[in-house]
Amino acid sequence: LQINELIYTEDVLGTSSTKSATFSLIIPTYNESKNLEKLVEVLSQILNSYWEGNYELIIVDDDSPDRTWQVGLELMPHYPKLRVMRRQQEKGLSTAVIRGWQAAQGEILGVIDGDLQHPPETLINMLNEMQNGADLVVASRHVEGGGVSDWGFIRRVLSRGAQMLGLIILPNVIGRVSDPMSGYFMVRRSAIANCLMNPLGYKILIEVLGRGNVGKVAEVGYIFQERQEGESKVTWRQYVDYIMHLLRLRSRGRISRIRERLRVPIKRFLKFGIVGFSGVCVDMAILYLLSDASTLHWGLTRSKIISSEVAVINNFLWNDLWTFSDISSHQKGWRKRIKRFLKFNFICLFGMGLNLIILNLLYNYAHINQYLANLIAIAIVTIWNFWFNLKLSWRV
Ligand code: GDD
Ligand code: MN
Repeated sequence: LQINELIYTEDVLGTSSTKSATFSLIIPTYNESKNLEKLVEVLSQILNSYWEGNYELIIVDDDSPDRTWQVGLELMPHYPKLRVMRRQQEKGLSTAVIRGWQAAQGEILGVIDGDLQHPPETLINMLNEMQNGADLVVASRHVEGGGVSDWGFIRRVLSRGAQMLGLIILPNVIGRVSDPMSGYFMVRRSAIANCLMNPLGYKILIEVLGRGNVGKVAEVGYIFQERQEGESKVTWRQYVDYIMHLLRLRSRGRISRIRERLRVPIKRFLKFGIVGFSGVCVDMAILYLLSDASTLHWGLTRSKIISSEVAVINNFLWNDLWTFSDISSHQKGWRKRIKRFLKFNFICLFGMGLNLIILNLLYNYAHINQYLANLIAIAIVTIWNFWFNLKLSWRV
């Protein structure tokens, strides 16, 4: 599911009269008929005065047996900013929220429980934080001003235990907020617009943090109220879903890291190739100077060893200063540079051996023309040299 995707408009009953809604608040409901009227009344009051009416409320109901959706429809004539989505095919809290956002027009997308356990006044502080530039504001039970009203020991332990587990499985995501289980938050549309969402179960905030491009995060305290009407839908199933959800996001992170590692750095490789070519020129020139009859007249092997080594030094310097400058500039000092040089030298030495072997194989067994064979060998060795130096010598 993607926020920018269009959904079947038949799903949404009633169109918001405000075409300029800048804030869209989703109210997911399942059997909340007794809570809805009060909630809509208080929300409208607050948003009419604080947000100057530029908002819309979208109830997303999963065809509740208590006909919550019908209560919503009956409220619509009295609340022009209210829209109702009755879902008869899809089910589940997280998809309800995303479907609501898909149908929304606001730049700021929010969600609030439909049972009045989330105090509507907190919206004011949250909207303030959004105006101060946050990408995501979470109403939290675990910051100043936050808490739970009347929870027993077991429930507190379960809630904190789930959070700890999250920190172990997915520290970079769960660690960003104090209350990752919160279902009361707002996010800028731009932070999630092009991200593929595939939530499981109850905890949509985790999906937003795990897959969105969320920059600045803010938190606002709130007291989780006791339920007055209806009952909670949480069962053991939600705990299992939660763990599966964490594991899935974790493996997703790992897959994209592997993909990142395998991506070929083309620009860098081109630079490496150019430096390699300069090395060939240096090699040739030195070889000429040392072995040619008119100059030093050294033996060919001795000359070649020296010329190769000078070429290796030449290549190292250019690669260190140019090809991998972004990496070497973070690893300064002579010791580190010499270490890089020794690794480079070693890898290139191996490369030369490899060159010889490939050349022989292609020439003697595949009967390829010696120059073409050498060209192929050089291409393979360049890739070899590049890859191993990238992974070993200029490792980030
Ligand atoms: N559309 C839809 N479909 N709504 C649902 C569904 C569903 O399958 N299941 C639950 N809801 C609605 C409820 O009607 C309610 O408005 C809201 O989602 C939260 O459900 P509760 O059953 O009341 O959950 P809770 O009281 O345990 O709240 C916990 O989970 C919330 C959701 O993540 C707390 O952690 C809250 O902070 C959190 O917002
Ligand atoms: Mn609740």
